[in-house]
Amino acid sequence: MIDIHSHILPGIDDGPETMDETLEMAWAYERAGFEAVIATPHHIPGTSWHVHPETIRRLVSHVNDTLVHEGIRLHLKPGMEIGLAPEVPRLLSEKGLLTLADSCYLLLESPFQRLPLNWEQTIFDLAAHGYRIVWAHPERCGQLQEEPELLNRILQLGGFLQVNWGSILEYNGSDVCAFAKQMIGQGRVHCMATDSHDALSRRPDNAVAGMRALEDMAGLETVDMLARENPGRILRSETLNNVAPAPGASRERSNGTRRFFQWKRR
Ligand SMILES: [Fe+2]
Repeated sequence: MIDIHSHILPGIDDGPETMDETLEMAWAYERAGFEAVIATPHHIPGTSWHVHPETIRRLVSHVNDTLVHEGIRLHLKPGMEIGLAPEVPRLLSEKGLLTLADSCYLLLESPFQRLPLNWEQTIFDLAAHGYRIVWAHPERCGQLQEEPELLNRILQLGGFLQVNWGSILEYNGSDVCAFAKQMIGQGRVHCMATDSHDALSRRPDNAVAGMRALEDMAGLETVDMLARENPGRILRSETLNNVAPAPGASRERSNGTRRFFQWKRR
Protein backbone atom coordinates (compact mmCIF):
# COMPACT_ATOMS: atom_id res chain seq x y z
CA MET A 1 0.00 0.00 0.00
CA ILE A 2 0.91 3.61 -0.51
CA ASP A 3 0.01 6.45 1.85
CA ILE A 4 -0.41 9.77 0.02
CA HIS A 5 -0.83 11.95 3.12
CA SER A 6 1.58 11.76 6.05
CA HIS A 7 3.36 14.10 8.45
CA ILE A 8 6.23 11.65 9.04
CA LEU A 9 9.18 14.03 8.56
CA PRO A 10 10.88 15.07 11.81
CA GLY A 11 10.95 18.62 13.15
CA ILE A 12 9.17 20.32 10.28
CA ASP A 13 5.48 20.76 11.19
CA ASP A 14 3.12 19.27 13.80
CA GLY A 15 4.37 15.75 13.08
CA PRO A 16 7.21 14.00 14.97
CA GLU A 17 9.81 16.19 16.62
CA THR A 18 12.73 13.73 16.39
CA MET A 19 14.11 11.10 14.03
CA ASP A 20 13.38 8.44 16.67
CA GLU A 21 9.67 9.29 16.51
CA THR A 22 9.84 9.24 12.70
CA LEU A 23 11.35 5.74 12.89
CA GLU A 24 8.56 4.60 15.23
CA MET A 25 6.05 5.78 12.64
CA ALA A 26 8.03 4.01 9.91
CA TRP A 27 7.95 0.70 11.81
CA ALA A 28 4.19 1.12 12.23
CA TYR A 29 3.83 1.74 8.49
CA GLU A 30 5.85 -1.37 7.67
CA ARG A 31 3.85 -3.53 10.11
CA ALA A 32 0.60 -2.23 8.59
CA GLY A 33 1.73 -3.31 5.10
CA PHE A 34 2.76 0.01 3.52
CA GLU A 35 5.69 0.10 1.13
CA ALA A 36 5.71 3.77 0.21
CA VAL A 37 4.67 7.01 1.89
CA ILE A 38 4.44 10.50 0.46
CA ALA A 39 5.67 12.92 3.12
CA THR A 40 3.30 15.90 3.08
CA PRO A 41 4.28 18.61 5.59
CA HIS A 42 1.85 21.52 5.90
CA HIS A 43 2.47 24.55 3.72
CA ILE A 44 -0.21 27.21 4.14
CA PRO A 45 0.50 30.40 2.17
CA GLY A 46 0.46 33.56 4.27
CA THR A 47 0.97 31.73 7.58
CA SER A 48 3.94 30.45 9.59
CA TRP A 49 3.21 26.97 8.17
CA HIS A 50 5.77 27.49 5.48
CA VAL A 51 8.44 25.11 4.24
CA HIS A 52 10.80 25.22 1.28
CA PRO A 53 10.64 22.34 -1.26
CA GLU A 54 14.38 21.74 -1.06
CA THR A 55 14.14 21.35 2.73
CA ILE A 56 11.55 18.59 2.22
CA ARG A 57 13.63 16.86 -0.47
CA ARG A 58 16.73 16.88 1.75
CA LEU A 59 14.79 15.53 4.74
CA VAL A 60 13.14 12.81 2.66
CA SER A 61 16.54 11.71 1.39
CA HIS A 62 18.01 11.73 4.90
CA VAL A 63 15.08 9.71 6.33
CA ASN A 64 15.30 7.21 3.44
CA ASP A 65 19.02 6.68 4.17
CA THR A 66 18.15 6.12 7.85
CA LEU A 67 15.38 3.65 6.97
CA VAL A 68 17.84 1.58 4.93
CA HIS A 69 20.34 1.69 7.79
CA GLU A 70 17.66 0.53 10.27
CA GLY A 71 16.41 -2.23 7.97
CA ILE A 72 12.91 -0.73 7.63
CA ARG A 73 11.35 -1.60 4.30
CA LEU A 74 9.61 1.68 3.60
CA HIS A 75 10.39 4.38 1.06
CA LEU A 76 9.45 8.05 1.39
CA LYS A 77 8.66 10.38 -1.48
CA PRO A 78 8.44 14.18 -1.34
CA GLY A 79 5.17 16.09 -1.20
CA MET A 80 3.25 18.82 0.62
CA GLU A 81 -0.18 19.39 2.08
CA ILE A 82 -0.91 22.80 0.61
CA GLY A 83 -3.42 25.24 2.07
CA LEU A 84 -5.94 26.23 -0.62
CA ALA A 85 -5.28 29.92 -1.32
CA PRO A 86 -5.38 32.24 -4.37
CA GLU A 87 -1.57 32.43 -4.50
CA VAL A 88 -1.11 28.65 -4.99
CA PRO A 89 -0.92 28.83 -8.84
CA ARG A 90 1.71 31.60 -8.64
CA LEU A 91 3.74 29.75 -6.01
CA LEU A 92 3.71 26.64 -8.20
CA SER A 93 4.96 28.62 -11.21
CA GLU A 94 7.79 29.94 -9.02
CA LYS A 95 8.66 26.34 -7.98
CA GLY A 96 7.80 27.20 -4.38
CA LEU A 97 5.55 24.16 -3.84
CA LEU A 98 5.73 20.39 -4.31
CA THR A 99 3.25 18.09 -6.00
CA LEU A 100 2.68 14.56 -4.68
CA ALA A 101 5.82 12.54 -5.47
CA ASP A 102 6.55 14.86 -8.43
CA SER A 103 3.33 13.74 -10.15
CA CYS A 104 0.68 16.08 -11.59
CA TYR A 105 -1.35 15.75 -8.36
CA LEU A 106 -1.52 18.39 -5.62
CA LEU A 107 -2.73 17.62 -2.09
CA LEU A 108 -4.84 20.64 -1.05
CA GLU A 109 -6.47 21.26 2.31
CA SER A 110 -9.13 23.86 3.05
CA PRO A 111 -9.68 25.67 6.35
CA PHE A 112 -11.83 23.61 8.73
CA GLN A 113 -14.45 26.38 8.91
CA ARG A 114 -15.17 27.98 5.53
CA LEU A 115 -13.73 27.57 2.05
CA PRO A 116 -11.49 30.50 1.04
CA LEU A 117 -12.76 33.25 -1.25
CA ASN A 118 -12.47 32.48 -4.97
CA TRP A 119 -11.63 28.84 -4.27
CA GLU A 120 -13.37 27.75 -7.47
CA GLN A 121 -11.23 30.10 -9.57
CA THR A 122 -8.09 28.76 -7.89
CA ILE A 123 -9.06 25.16 -8.67
CA PHE A 124 -9.95 26.16 -12.23
CA ASP A 125 -6.58 27.91 -12.70
CA LEU A 126 -4.68 24.89 -11.37
CA ALA A 127 -6.56 22.53 -13.69
CA ALA A 128 -5.87 24.86 -16.63
CA HIS A 129 -2.15 24.52 -15.88
CA GLY A 130 -2.36 20.72 -15.94
CA TYR A 131 -2.51 20.04 -12.20
CA ARG A 132 -4.93 17.57 -10.69
CA ILE A 133 -6.33 18.20 -7.23
CA VAL A 134 -6.61 15.75 -4.35
CA TRP A 135 -8.78 17.46 -1.72
CA ALA A 136 -7.57 16.39 1.75
CA HIS A 137 -10.15 15.28 4.33
CA PRO A 138 -13.25 17.12 2.99
CA GLU A 139 -15.21 15.37 5.75
CA ARG A 140 -13.57 17.67 8.31
CA CYS A 141 -14.66 20.95 6.65
CA GLY A 142 -17.67 22.56 8.35
CA GLN A 143 -18.92 24.31 5.20
CA LEU A 144 -18.81 21.09 3.16
CA GLN A 145 -20.76 19.33 5.92
CA GLU A 146 -23.41 22.06 5.79
CA GLU A 147 -23.44 22.41 2.01
CA PRO A 148 -22.56 18.95 0.64
CA GLU A 149 -23.72 20.03 -2.82
CA LEU A 150 -20.37 21.89 -3.02
CA LEU A 151 -18.74 18.46 -3.37
CA ASN A 152 -20.36 18.26 -6.80
CA ARG A 153 -18.62 21.51 -7.76
CA ILE A 154 -15.24 20.19 -6.59
CA LEU A 155 -15.74 17.02 -8.62
CA GLN A 156 -16.99 18.96 -11.67
CA LEU A 157 -13.83 21.06 -11.55
CA GLY A 158 -11.80 17.85 -11.80
CA GLY A 159 -10.99 17.44 -8.11
CA PHE A 160 -10.60 14.12 -6.32
CA LEU A 161 -11.47 13.49 -2.67
CA GLN A 162 -9.27 11.92 0.04
CA VAL A 163 -10.79 10.80 3.35
CA ASN A 164 -8.77 10.00 6.49
CA TRP A 165 -8.85 6.45 7.85
CA GLY A 166 -9.34 7.93 11.32
CA SER A 167 -12.50 9.73 10.22
CA ILE A 168 -14.36 6.48 9.52
CA LEU A 169 -13.25 5.25 12.97
CA GLU A 170 -14.92 8.27 14.66
CA TYR A 171 -11.55 9.75 15.72
CA ASN A 172 -12.85 13.14 14.60
CA GLY A 173 -16.35 12.76 16.02
CA SER A 174 -19.58 11.12 14.94
CA ASP A 175 -20.68 13.88 12.52
CA VAL A 176 -17.38 13.71 10.64
CA CYS A 177 -17.62 9.91 10.58
CA ALA A 178 -21.17 9.98 9.24
CA PHE A 179 -20.25 12.49 6.53
CA ALA A 180 -17.16 10.48 5.52
CA LYS A 181 -19.18 7.29 5.25
CA GLN A 182 -21.89 9.08 3.29
CA MET A 183 -19.36 10.37 0.75
CA ILE A 184 -17.84 6.89 0.39
CA GLY A 185 -21.28 5.33 -0.01
CA GLN A 186 -22.08 7.87 -2.72
CA GLY A 187 -18.96 6.86 -4.66
CA ARG A 188 -17.46 10.34 -4.34
CA VAL A 189 -14.21 9.37 -2.57
CA HIS A 190 -11.08 8.39 -4.50
CA CYS A 191 -8.42 7.75 -1.84
CA MET A 192 -8.03 6.93 1.82
CA ALA A 193 -4.93 8.12 3.68
CA THR A 194 -3.62 8.11 7.23
CA ASP A 195 -2.81 11.85 7.69
CA SER A 196 -0.68 10.39 10.48
CA HIS A 197 1.25 12.73 12.78
CA ASP A 198 2.81 10.41 15.40
CA ALA A 199 3.07 6.83 16.65
CA LEU A 200 0.61 7.38 19.52
CA SER A 201 -2.87 8.50 18.47
CA ARG A 202 -2.78 9.76 14.89
CA ARG A 203 -0.66 6.76 13.94
CA PRO A 204 -0.05 5.07 10.57
CA ASP A 205 -1.42 1.68 11.56
CA ASN A 206 -4.87 3.14 12.24
CA ALA A 207 -5.21 2.23 8.58
CA VAL A 208 -5.53 -1.44 9.55
CA ALA A 209 -8.65 -0.88 11.66
CA GLY A 210 -9.87 1.56 9.01
CA MET A 211 -9.59 -1.06 6.28
CA ARG A 212 -11.60 -3.54 8.34
CA ALA A 213 -14.31 -0.92 8.86
CA LEU A 214 -14.30 0.03 5.17
CA GLU A 215 -14.47 -3.61 4.07
CA ASP A 216 -17.50 -4.17 6.34
CA MET A 217 -19.12 -1.07 4.93
CA ALA A 218 -18.25 -1.16 1.24
CA GLY A 219 -16.49 -4.43 0.40
CA LEU A 220 -12.96 -5.48 -0.48
CA GLU A 221 -13.01 -4.01 -4.00
CA THR A 222 -13.58 -0.54 -2.60
CA VAL A 223 -10.80 -1.02 -0.05
CA ASP A 224 -8.42 -2.05 -2.82
CA MET A 225 -9.37 0.91 -5.02
CA LEU A 226 -9.12 3.56 -2.28
CA ALA A 227 -6.09 2.18 -0.42
CA ARG A 228 -3.90 0.70 -3.17
CA GLU A 229 -5.03 1.20 -6.79
CA ASN A 230 -5.77 4.95 -6.80
CA PRO A 231 -2.78 5.94 -4.63
CA GLY A 232 -0.61 4.02 -7.13
CA ARG A 233 -2.26 5.91 -9.97
CA ILE A 234 -1.30 9.17 -8.30
CA LEU A 235 2.37 8.15 -8.37
CA ARG A 236 2.02 7.47 -12.11
CA SER A 237 0.00 10.67 -12.83
CA GLU A 238 -2.89 8.54 -14.07
CA THR A 239 -6.56 9.47 -13.73
CA LEU A 240 -8.16 8.08 -10.58
CA ASN A 241 -11.02 5.59 -10.74
CA ASN A 242 -14.41 6.11 -9.16
CA VAL A 243 -15.92 3.45 -6.93
CA ALA A 244 -19.51 2.42 -7.46
CA PRO A 245 -22.07 4.09 -5.18
CA ALA A 246 -23.68 1.84 -2.62
CA PRO A 247 -27.22 0.77 -3.57
CA GLY A 248 -29.71 3.40 -2.42
CA ALA A 249 -27.08 5.99 -1.42
CA SER A 250 -28.62 9.46 -1.57
CA ARG A 251 -26.67 12.20 -3.30
CA GLU A 252 -27.33 14.97 -0.79
CA ARG A 253 -27.15 15.41 2.92
CA SER A 254 -27.36 18.34 5.26
CA ASN A 255 -27.16 17.98 9.02
CA GLY A 256 -27.76 21.68 9.69
CA THR A 257 -24.94 21.69 12.22
CA ARG A 258 -22.82 24.81 12.31
CA ARG A 259 -19.15 24.29 12.91
CA PHE A 260 -16.60 26.95 13.59
CA PHE A 261 -13.20 25.44 12.98
CA GLN A 262 -10.27 27.67 12.18
CA TRP A 263 -7.05 26.41 10.65
CA LYS A 264 -6.11 23.89 13.25
CA ARG A 265 -4.12 20.78 13.19
CA ARG A 266 -5.96 18.46 15.53
FE1 LIG B 1 -2.43 16.46 6.99
